[in-house]
Amino acid sequence: MTESLKSVPHHIAIVMDGNGRWAQKRLLPRLAGHKKGVDALRNCVALCGERGVRVLTVFAFSSENWKRPEDEVSGLMGLMASALAKEVTSLKANGVRLHCVGNRSQLGEKVRAGLEDAEAQTAGNERLILNVCFNYGGRWDIAQAAERLCAQQLPITEEALTEAMSLAHVPDPDLLIRTGGEMRISNFLLWQAAYSELYFSEALWPDFGAKELDAAIADFQQRQRRFGKTGEQIVQAKSNKHSSAKH
Ligand code: IPE
Ligand code: IPE
Ligand code: MG
Repeated sequence: MTESLKSVPHHIAIVMDGNGRWAQKRLLPRLAGHKKGVDALRNCVALCGERGVRVLTVFAFSSENWKRPEDEVSGLMGLMASALAKEVTSLKANGVRLHCVGNRSQLGEKVRAGLEDAEAQTAGNERLILNVCFNYGGRWDIAQAAERLCAQQLPITEEALTEAMSLAHVPDPDLLIRTGGEMRISNFLLWQAAYSELYFSEALWPDFGAKELDAAIADFQQRQRRFGKTGEQIVQAKSNKHSSAKH
């Protein structure tokens, strides 16, 4: 295996931002941008599968996005329901296992049924895990995890919180990409992104394709991840690993 194949991020997380501006630039309604965003996500899922990424986590609707105009919110709910129904066949064909992450209790019946159905239908797939964060907030996630531990009268430790968090089924993201040019987290994976490499792309989400994804992965491959250690310790550990692999 070559060095670059080895360092493909296992888990990529993306704040898919810029749909509204993409549409506005074309004098289209914002929802047209969100529809294009679904196409970009389909493409990105396929690309991640091809590149050997094992987990893709995307931010599709934040707990703060309810504050948007009513017609945009209802358009996004409708789009989520229809995308779930339409995409499930190709997710199955491509070995993608879908998880919907977020506060389901506030979602309408149609969206909830759609996501439960898509999750059930893709439950046997193993090639790529796709976490769609919908009505998700990082603060909500930490609070719901703490609440669950309290209800079970368990001590609140870092390990227990990690286990109670809504992404406990996957390791933390290695690379966190935000499209659309903004350099902020906007209440995405507050707990899980503690040591993610951050990458900000100027591309609006509907324009994010192979070129942009590969640029983000190439940038990631140049980083030295230290997790609190010194650079020298990391270099030393790598050379130890290489020499023991040779013997
Ligand atoms: C991201 O695109 C998608 C959602 C938040 C649902 P935006 O709709 O935020 O796009 P901009 O930032 O207004 O361009
Ligand atoms: C973050 O984008 C949420 C999603 C991409 C779903 P926003 O467009 O809502 O973020 P802010 O409001 O610019 O911080
Ligand atoms: Mg935005």
